[in-house]
Amino acid sequence: MSLETPQPHFIQVHQDDQQAVRAELLSGLAQSPARVAPKFLYDALGSRLFDAITELAEYYPTRTEVAIFAQHGRDMARAVAPSSVLIDLGAGSCAKAARLFAPLQPAAYVAVDISVDYLRASLLTLQQRHLGLPMLGLGQDFSSELALPEAAQRWLATQGAADAPRTVFYPGSSIGNFTPPEALTLLRQAHALCAAGGAGGGLLIGVDRVKPKAVLEPAYADALGVTAAFNRNLLLHVNRVLGTDFDPAQWDHVGLFDEAKSRIEMHLQARAAHAVRWPQGERHFAAGERIHTENSYKWTPDAFAALLSEAGFAPATHWTDPQSWFSVFWAPAT
Ligand code: AVJ
Repeated sequence: MSLETPQPHFIQVHQDDQQAVRAELLSGLAQSPARVAPKFLYDALGSRLFDAITELAEYYPTRTEVAIFAQHGRDMARAVAPSSVLIDLGAGSCAKAARLFAPLQPAAYVAVDISVDYLRASLLTLQQRHLGLPMLGLGQDFSSELALPEAAQRWLATQGAADAPRTVFYPGSSIGNFTPPEALTLLRQAHALCAAGGAGGGLLIGVDRVKPKAVLEPAYADALGVTAAFNRNLLLHVNRVLGTDFDPAQWDHVGLFDEAKSRIEMHLQARAAHAVRWPQGERHFAAGERIHTENSYKWTPDAFAALLSEAGFAPATHWTDPQSWFSVFWAPAT
């Protein structure tokens, strides 16, 4: 590799504080019902199991969103400002954003994920295929706070993109993991991020829609049991972090749509009464007692458009699939 080869730049903002992570887990386990945050679904195996979920016949969101981008990509490109800074939230493999490079012609690409370690390999590969596009890997937990750190703003300035419009890209309906008040907070921060750049910025976001239970529930409780494995694997992750002795075989996967709350809830349900122990304590679980591991909110387009407007965005447009199962919103900052 010659010195002239462009290299992605990396910034790690938030270093995982193991003490804080353990405290958060312990407090969740002490609650009734017990809860573990969905981020614990994504260790190395969990991320692979999620990729497998996206291949399942029952799990429609990923392929439906891909089809919407394929079908309406040209209209989206017309809505989004040219030469913007493309800020990809939860970038991971960066594959979804990479498909937007040709139509959107961004001035720079900022991939955000909880750890730069997840971004290094993907960005290094991607940079070889897009030599002229400045790339930044930003390790940051944007679920607790979304804002560009000083170092990232300085990097944008060195790329001549300090005043470029900003396109925040948040695909996959991951916004569904947040309760409506939490989602509002995140969207307000996304709005501030767009509004701080040049005119024409905005948010491009994938949102899963309310639909019949008969479609929703199998997507979160598939026949092969991949989602069940994904859910149970969280216990193995917790065991490594806390030293607990959770036995995944003692737990059933539950994935149910709560119509009143408009959300899928994932739980793990104890098959029999038993105690879970760790070096400093234990927790008893009765037969049938549950640990709440994830919410996945489903939105109507009207309710989501109202949320975007409450967050400060100008009136949004959205594109959907022929069955109206999923929507991709474009919300201009002004
Ligand atoms: C990655 C949060 C969008 O809510 O559909 C998939 C996670 N959980 N199956 C979703 C998930 C169970 C997924 N998100």
